[in-house]
Amino acid sequence: GAPVEVDIGKLEPGMLLTVEWRGRVVWVLKRTPEMLQNLEKLNAQLADPDSKREQQPDYAQNPVRSIKPEVLVVEGVCTHLGCSPVYRKDIAPADLGADWLGGFFCPCHGSKFDLAGRVYKAVPAPTNLVVPPHTYLSDSRLLIG
Ligand code: FES
Repeated sequence: GAPVEVDIGKLEPGMLLTVEWRGRVVWVLKRTPEMLQNLEKLNAQLADPDSKREQQPDYAQNPVRSIKPEVLVVEGVCTHLGCSPVYRKDIAPADLGADWLGGFFCPCHGSKFDLAGRVYKAVPAPTNLVVPPHTYLSDSRLLIG
């Protein structure tokens, strides 16, 4: 499939944009400074905080798993059996517990991912969400693929 160009110039902090690339859902999330700070607090609860388990683009091998810290680009496909996780940016909601600092929750079998797409320990999904190949054509134009 052809690469997909995405204009992220109007993406507000906290907003998630969904695009399709090669028949797959790709999310572009503009993270707030608070969201980025919270990522560090979660490391002990995550299965693979440094993304060592699977092949990742070089630019995803860092704590925020992205080229620009504030912009996360991941496939919106659960690494368990492929369901679509739900973006939940609310902090400590009743159904996800006091430790929840925002992330993606898969309703199929309860896998949890943080706002860098990193999978929590003791959930069915074995690996972090996949970071697709992407580059920036300019500050506000992203090319996926
Ligand atoms: Fe997401 Fe099973 S498909 S937890």
